[in-house]
Amino acid sequence: MDKFVIHGGKTLKGAVTIGGSKNEALAIMPAALLASGKYSLGNVPELRDIATMGRLLELMGVDIERERDTLVVNTFRVNKFEAPYEQVKKMRASIYVLGPLVARYGKARVSLPGGCAWGPRPVNLHIEGIRKLGAKVEIRGGYIVAKATRLKGAKITLDVSSVGATGNIMMAASLARGTSVIANAATEPEITALAVFLTKMGARIDGIGTSRLEIEGVDTLHPVDERMIPDRIEAGTFLVAAALCGGTVRLEMCKPDHLMAVISKLEEAGARFELGDNWIRLTAPRAIHPVDVKTAIYPGFPTDMQAQWITLMSLSRGSSVIIDSIYFDRFKHVPELIRLGADIDLNRNAAIVKGVKSLTGTKVMSTDLRASASLVLAGLAADGTTEVLRVYHLDRGYERIEKKLQMLGASIRRVSGREF
Ligand code: UD1
Repeated sequence: MDKFVIHGGKTLKGAVTIGGSKNEALAIMPAALLASGKYSLGNVPELRDIATMGRLLELMGVDIERERDTLVVNTFRVNKFEAPYEQVKKMRASIYVLGPLVARYGKARVSLPGGCAWGPRPVNLHIEGIRKLGAKVEIRGGYIVAKATRLKGAKITLDVSSVGATGNIMMAASLARGTSVIANAATEPEITALAVFLTKMGARIDGIGTSRLEIEGVDTLHPVDERMIPDRIEAGTFLVAAALCGGTVRLEMCKPDHLMAVISKLEEAGARFELGDNWIRLTAPRAIHPVDVKTAIYPGFPTDMQAQWITLMSLSRGSSVIIDSIYFDRFKHVPELIRLGADIDLNRNAAIVKGVKSLTGTKVMSTDLRASASLVLAGLAADGTTEVLRVYHLDRGYERIEKKLQMLGASIRRVSGREF
């Protein structure tokens, strides 16, 4: 297992190019199951999660080749309709194959994902949604087993505005007979991008970008080419890194509109911004002001930026409260940040952070993707040397993060498992 060795205290400056959206790609790759043929998917980041989704689709007979940032996906020979536990346990987004398989092939056997590193993450809304569309769904031996001749349009109101359930149900409803409505649908940019992709494939979807999606099912869809939108969480992570480490950093190939909640909180913290159509320049604050944050569905502050925000607030000039209202247990980074010298009290889903003058480097352990990002940021800002162990979590969602940070002037080095 690789680790990062970080010598903290370097000012970040220069430009960094943001990659394509992981979470969009993880929805669009399985969406390709909805029509036979060849797709060209551009701006797909080279990440472990993308490779895991690729492997899962290959097990079903999909042919996938990477040509630089483009995946050429051929769904001509799909002959298995199963997502085995061995794959699903590596990545929960594997559940996205459920809707497309039932809608297109009338059958699916998908392992239940189980919990995740920081707590329970149910998939009940995915299952109920597919059921409402007329599929017969049973849970047998840890698997979701679904069957249908042809799905039928239905009105589905999501109890919680779930990104994954909205995506899964929207994909399935695209090939159902009749009209479906998804109320309280997620409006995250990755879901909007998926809706746009499905529309290009021939789906009829109204209300794209709103919380009420109306989908008139069609008989067939056709393959298309698409480019992924920029990854807003990668961009947000670099913004927080820059704010923590001083200096001025410009993000290229990003979408400021998708980051307004993070940008406005960073402004409150004292950062200054210039925004273009597809770039952002951040000048770090001299002193970081304390700013409370409560995570929310889009366009609110993303839960995927909560851990990084706690790191920023650890070095602020005062106290702040960070509440995660999406995932109550997503705080595995807190004990590790405390080991670096942060002053954080955890009260259920609220972290009370008292800013300290400095953090001090030591060894810390990654537990999940965004927690790992927060530890890398802490290491960049800490005095001395920080070792972040188990960085494979970061490789799931950040493409060559150490190279990008090096280009901004950070002292960060990957040491491969064999060397220590
Ligand atoms: C997606 C993102 C993840 C992000 C999350 C919230 C992908 C691959 N992952 O995850 O990075 O942190 O959105 O923005 O896109 N819920 C249920 N029942 C369900 C499904 C979800 O109760 O069947 C609840 C969850 O416990 C959570 C909330 O809904 O409290 C939101 O989860 P959801 O939007 O579904 O997250 P994911 O799609 O798994």
